[in-house]
Amino acid sequence: MITATTVDEVRSFVKKQKSEGKTVGLVPTMGFLHEGHASLVKKSVEMCDVTVVSVFVNPTQFAPNEDFDAYPRDFKRDCALLESCGADLVFHPEASEMYAEDFTTGVTMDVLSKTLCGKTRPIHFNGVCTVVSKLFNIVTPDKAFFGQKDAQQLAIIKRMVRDLNFDIEIVGCPIVREEDGLAKSSRNTYLNADERKAALCLSQSVAIGKKMAEEGVSDTETILAAMRAHIEKEPLAKIDYVEAVDGVTMQPTEKVKDGVLFAMAVYIGKTRLIDNFIV
Ligand code: PAJ
Repeated sequence: MITATTVDEVRSFVKKQKSEGKTVGLVPTMGFLHEGHASLVKKSVEMCDVTVVSVFVNPTQFAPNEDFDAYPRDFKRDCALLESCGADLVFHPEASEMYAEDFTTGVTMDVLSKTLCGKTRPIHFNGVCTVVSKLFNIVTPDKAFFGQKDAQQLAIIKRMVRDLNFDIEIVGCPIVREEDGLAKSSRNTYLNADERKAALCLSQSVAIGKKMAEEGVSDTETILAAMRAHIEKEPLAKIDYVEAVDGVTMQPTEKVKDGVLFAMAVYIGKTRLIDNFIV
């Protein structure tokens, strides 16, 4: 596996691969990789001739009060995992390689970024759209892989690709969970033993909501009330939101139907975790 730190290195690698007629897959990540990330890389290796993974903690998607500095990093361990998954190149730039000091252009997303996580993190999705656009322009992949774990991010990237005519197929991949149900996340490392136990209220609440939807409960509010009630029983948990939205437009919806997204963000102590399911 090749390690590249500059845009030029990635460009010449991709140019060579494409001149040989090979298809290129891209998996954007912020590192501290786990099996959720690995599932995306494996999917790309399966579907594309060549797989590029970016490992970059993107400063523009963190607000000043968020965990940019504390975000866990272990590039050596990430490389070992990527190598074992069959990735061909890892792009690990410094922030200065991605953002010139006088960088002043960005990609903004309106409607879809105003609900769910966008309410608490108003600048987050503009930072995501900007860095992902840059990665798309640098790597020019045929396909790019994103997890359903970040359901709003996936919907936003799909919309951006449509709106800005990126010639890239976005492949969504299912949520990978720990054995006890907790969705894998780089941020799980922030949890102490008590918080780790308390964090199960998210996946349990997802299971409760999913069962009710499968049993035919037809209004979202009844399901959301049961999901919220379960989380509220956990003293270490504080709900940021538990909501139901249309899976494409990210706008609130009252009726349960195919494609509705039930999503939540919950603070466990100081750690903000997310989880979701789609009907
Ligand atoms: P990061 O949180 O590192 O996630 C990278 C990708 O891995 C995302 O597409 C995310 O949805 C996916 N992922 C994370 N946990 C997962 C799980 N348990 N199961 C399946 N997929 C999972 O998301 C970002 O980074 C950044 O916003 C990024 C897109 C890289 C832009 O900076």
